[in-house]
Amino acid sequence: MSKDKVTKRAAPVKERKFRGVTLPTASHKAIRKVKRAGHEPAIHGTKLWRSSFLIIDYLHKNPPELCSKVLDAGCGWGITGIWCAKKLRSEVVSLDADPAVFPYLDAVATLNGVTTSPCVKRFEQLMKKELAEFDLLVAADVCFWDELVKPVSKLIDRALNAGVSQIIIADPERPTFHEMAEKTIARHGGELVHWRTSGKAKATGALLVINNQ
Ligand SMILES: C[S@@+](CC[C@H](N)C(=O)[O-])C[C@H]1O[C@@H](n2cnc3c(N)ncnc32)[C@H](O)[C@@H]1O
Repeated sequence: MSKDKVTKRAAPVKERKFRGVTLPTASHKAIRKVKRAGHEPAIHGTKLWRSSFLIIDYLHKNPPELCSKVLDAGCGWGITGIWCAKKLRSEVVSLDADPAVFPYLDAVATLNGVTTSPCVKRFEQLMKKELAEFDLLVAADVCFWDELVKPVSKLIDRALNAGVSQIIIADPERPTFHEMAEKTIARHGGELVHWRTSGKAKATGALLVINNQ
């Protein structure tokens, strides 16, 4: 046996627990299996983004009055909606423009023992009539390009017109999010809440919260 010093590397973290849900990382075997099957999200739905932790933590500390039906818009791997399905017992529609995110969402949902209904659609295609069925609209990190400011603003307009009771949009505070949030607050009211989580699911950012009851 060689006497050379062997440097031990820490094993990669495969999952974390946060507010009652399991958050897998890219090295989790369920996620690696989906990746090996060739699913490649193309609009940044490539991991669990930290803004989703902000919404989960906010909802944990501020349980919504109405949450039977929840829309997770721009769901990516879907953890915000999965948390609502698991902890609020909501019926959840997970919507994303990119069909490649859904095999990842299925893997995360299975790990958490829940299901949500997938919907492949762009924000722009979601009409007032469809939005009317939801109590709560959540969206984490969906306003990251200039071209998304208008579609996200208009989605909020239609959701409020449709009578959705509460809307919560989280972001790591990109300028595009602030542009959208300022315009939305000027039109509809609502507040910008700075939020921070600590521990294993650390995140910092802002939440646009609009109550419509
Ligand atoms: C940065 S990821 C955030 C994913 C997830 N919400 C999270 O926090 O982990 C943005 C997601 O929005 C989706 N997206 C981008 N533009 C969209 C649009 N116009 N309509 C619907 N989904 C869109 C992308 O496919 C991607 O999954």
